[in-house]
Amino acid sequence: NNQKRKQVTEGLELLTKFYHYLLTTAKYGSPGMQYLENRGFSAEMIKHFRIGYAVDSWDAVTNLLQKRDVNLEQMERAGIIAKRGFDNKYFDRFRNRVIFPIFNMRGQTVAFGGRTLGEDKPKYLNSPESEVFHKGSILYGYHLARQAIRKTSQAVLLEGYVDVIRAHQAGVTCSVASMGTSLTEAQAAALTRMADTIIICYDSDNAGIEASFRAAEMLQGNGKVIKIAKMPEGLDPDDYIRKFGGERFKSDVIGASQTLMTFKMGYLRRKRNLSDEGDRLLYIEDVLRELTKLNRAVERDHYLRLLSEEFSISLDSLKKQQHQLYTMVQ
Ligand code: CTP
Ligand code: MN
Ligand code: MN
Ligand code: MN
Ligand code: MN
Repeated sequence: NNQKRKQVTEGLELLTKFYHYLLTTAKYGSPGMQYLENRGFSAEMIKHFRIGYAVDSWDAVTNLLQKRDVNLEQMERAGIIAKRGFDNKYFDRFRNRVIFPIFNMRGQTVAFGGRTLGEDKPKYLNSPESEVFHKGSILYGYHLARQAIRKTSQAVLLEGYVDVIRAHQAGVTCSVASMGTSLTEAQAAALTRMADTIIICYDSDNAGIEASFRAAEMLQGNGKVIKIAKMPEGLDPDDYIRKFGGERFKSDVIGASQTLMTFKMGYLRRKRNLSDEGDRLLYIEDVLRELTKLNRAVERDHYLRLLSEEFSISLDSLKKQQHQLYTMVQ
């Protein structure tokens, strides 16, 4: 089984080189290169992330695999090639797509994400789960971010491949992606193992914002600081950096990220009219209710103090009221 895994990884390494060779060879790769250049990705990042291009052909990869004696059934299970119904012949699954190799923690390719150059569906064609690829246990970009995460004890969590590449290009090298909005327990564990501060910067659409609350709640605990970064409506980190530049991303997005609780307080605040006395009391109750969810006394205390100062209410009565709410939710 170990032997088998080794063979699959070797096949995927061969393909990583092949796709990258195709992309960087003008004769084959210009559609892919044109696409990446239009999106403003640097040659350095293309190399760093080993980005590739699958040519518009049904058999370029199949032929290569045959020529190199790679086990075709294994490559079929890894989702690289598939079998045609009518004559049982293999064909290439990735065609005319930009290829993002997906690496495991050790930097070995375990899967590919292939992006269409146009509007075809699916936008990303990904390798299926396989003996070497368990999507939920991988953070995209992890092995390239590890050093920066160690050094700063901070990690930035993004949604997508291109967000990570763009963030690295802008110098935010502690960035990784969950590859979609549903962070898994395994991904959360890998993050909290490495970093004391985790900043979630998901796409600024409804799906992304809701998912960042879920992710924050999952990451919370273990004495870690979890923050959420905000961007203008509709943008993702890649869009933002293209539009406003890396420096503003660092200062106004990453630098201005807020703890989950502060973020939620802002959200609860906007629902009320704080110049109205009744609304003020409701807001305080909203916050107290949220605070019962925090399991660290120090953290709860910190926000109780903020409330106490802002509304000139004694800490004591805030605590009493919170206790009442707490026994109510139990
Ligand atoms: N994703 C996927 N399959 C899809 C759509 C999305 O695997 N059909 C994953 C990819 O990892 C993708 C991430 O979810 O990078 C975020 O999706 P989305 O925001 O839709 O894509 P972007 O990363 O913004 O890609 P692009 O900028 O190229 O449109
Ligand atoms: Mn998205
Ligand atoms: Mn996006
Ligand atoms: Mn998009
Ligand atoms: Mn995008």
